Amino acid sequence: MAIPEKFIQDLVDRSDIVDVVSGYVRLSKRSGANLFGLCPFHSEKTPSFSVSPDKQIYHCFGCGKGGGVIGFIMEIENLSYPEAVAFLARRAGMQMPEETDSAEGRKRSRMLALNKEAARWFYSQLSAPAGRGAVAYIQRRGISPAMVKNFGLGAAPDSWEGLRDAMREKGFTENELFDAGLVKRGKNGGFYDAFRNRLMFPVIDVRGNVIGFSGRILGDGEPKYLNSPETLTFNKSRNLFAMNLAKKSKSGYIILSEGNIDVVSLHQAGFDSAVASLGTSLTPEQARLISRYTSEVIIAYDSDGAGLKASQRAIGILEKLDIKVRVLRMEGAKDPDEFIKTKGPEAFRKLLEGSENQMDYRLRAIREKYDLNVTEQKSDYLREAVDLLSRLPDEVRRQVYAMDLARELGLPPDVIVNDVERRRKRVVNSAYREVQKQQARPEKLLQPTARELHYDDPASAAAEEGLIRLLYLEPALIGTPGLPPPEDFSAPGLGRIYGVLRKRIEAGQHISTDHLAGELSGDELGLLVSILQKPEQLSRSRQSISDYISKIEERKQLRDGGTDLMALREQLKKKKGYEG
Ligand code: UTP
Ligand code: MN
Repeated sequence: MAIPEKFIQDLVDRSDIVDVVSGYVRLSKRSGANLFGLCPFHSEKTPSFSVSPDKQIYHCFGCGKGGGVIGFIMEIENLSYPEAVAFLARRAGMQMPEETDSAEGRKRSRMLALNKEAARWFYSQLSAPAGRGAVAYIQRRGISPAMVKNFGLGAAPDSWEGLRDAMREKGFTENELFDAGLVKRGKNGGFYDAFRNRLMFPVIDVRGNVIGFSGRILGDGEPKYLNSPETLTFNKSRNLFAMNLAKKSKSGYIILSEGNIDVVSLHQAGFDSAVASLGTSLTPEQARLISRYTSEVIIAYDSDGAGLKASQRAIGILEKLDIKVRVLRMEGAKDPDEFIKTKGPEAFRKLLEGSENQMDYRLRAIREKYDLNVTEQKSDYLREAVDLLSRLPDEVRRQVYAMDLARELGLPPDVIVNDVERRRKRVVNSAYREVQKQQARPEKLLQPTARELHYDDPASAAAEEGLIRLLYLEPALIGTPGLPPPEDFSAPGLGRIYGVLRKRIEAGQHISTDHLAGELSGDELGLLVSILQKPEQLSRSRQSISDYISKIEERKQLRDGGTDLMALREQLKKKKGYEG
């Protein structure tokens, strides 16, 4: 059932966007009305994410995300519209109205129930004959029974219908199994098990839901791992394997490794804060998840070239969130699993204690380029080091390092600290200027950031944007005769926004970004917000709207072809004459 509009309005009134966003992003006030911070939805060094306390919207000029407070929570917590509303209601201490369970929400909880049953079934197979292969493999990899239980490992037997039939008996339909990625559709239309003859790792989110699976082949072969596809419950880039366990660790840091097996080995050796990033390189969403639980990460990626590269990327992403990062250098072993197996847990503990701080590592890399006995080179070193330090988001850390640097070079600490802070200001200011420049360039139609929303006909899209903007700002214009149908829009995304907007205005419903968040995709909502940022002269809105309408029709006819161009021009001239 739809959530009453009134409830949404009250909720939005009690959920100030600045407060809510501040729980995730460090915002700072600049000249002008907006607050700025580093975008939580993409990686960046300088802030292009802005929040408007007046308009109660956020917008990122870098990645195009935007919306109101509900859209923000949907995006950052990966929730559906009703779930985001419930989330904010809890925060605001408001009781959710009855009967607001959405169809999608119901589907999601069914899928979670199914996943949980499937995990139980995989686990039970370990004590059945069909699970012998997996049990042998578990033993071969030295995984203890305690860890099998801790992680809920299981066996997918070498069969085409074992799981399918067991779940059907539990009352799940083949379609539900299919949507959850547990079965595939065969040529003859039947369904068969997707995971066969594999060691199963359930992926469990921080709330304890089984959201998907990762299945390893028993031995050599391809593909080594099979993962659940993206489903209503499974989103690889937003979850980490074993975060449900690691979040309870008392160690004070998170160990980030590459493989599921590494994680199991680490936990078995007593390092209970190990997680792995499900076969992708670390994403900003995963980093944010980590940052909810710790401010220190130790990277223990594979020691090959790929692992090194992945470490560098992860460092960048984590440091943006003010997470202290250290990198393990495992000499003589390819990954944590092998290291622990060959050298033992104690050796790994020593490694952890000695792991190099990332800033020290980078400073050392710069220092090694110069001969500090040569005055000129010494000042080059100083300049480069100051520049590096100025990019540290944390003020205290900047000062600590600046003082170290001063000591190293025999210079007065105040001078270096000031140097770093001055440089920091310049770095931050130039970022704001860049953002402001972008904001002040309305005449140039920018392509939407989301590639799926690309404008094929920019001339028409500019008018379509204009029409949307006008209707949003002045809904009374809905009475204007000759409004085109959404199908006449050249850009399908704009057509959808326009269609939803029109429908809501005609029905007398609210049209704030918070009410629209339930009907538009995240990309569409972001596009709408960016459209609303461009100026529109409302004093001449009646003229503008008819200009926009003519333009959209003209372009539509041109695109459709077959129209006599001259006749079209005549027609338009007449129209102008009539109105002007
Ligand atoms: P690894 O190949 O390092 O696997 O891939 P592993 O877990 O360490 O296993 P062992 O020790 O070699 O037996 C690292 C992670 O990348 C993902 C899995 O999440 C795996 O744990 N991956 C790997 C896939 O998703 N698909 C693959 O085909 C391979
Ligand atoms: Mn590995």
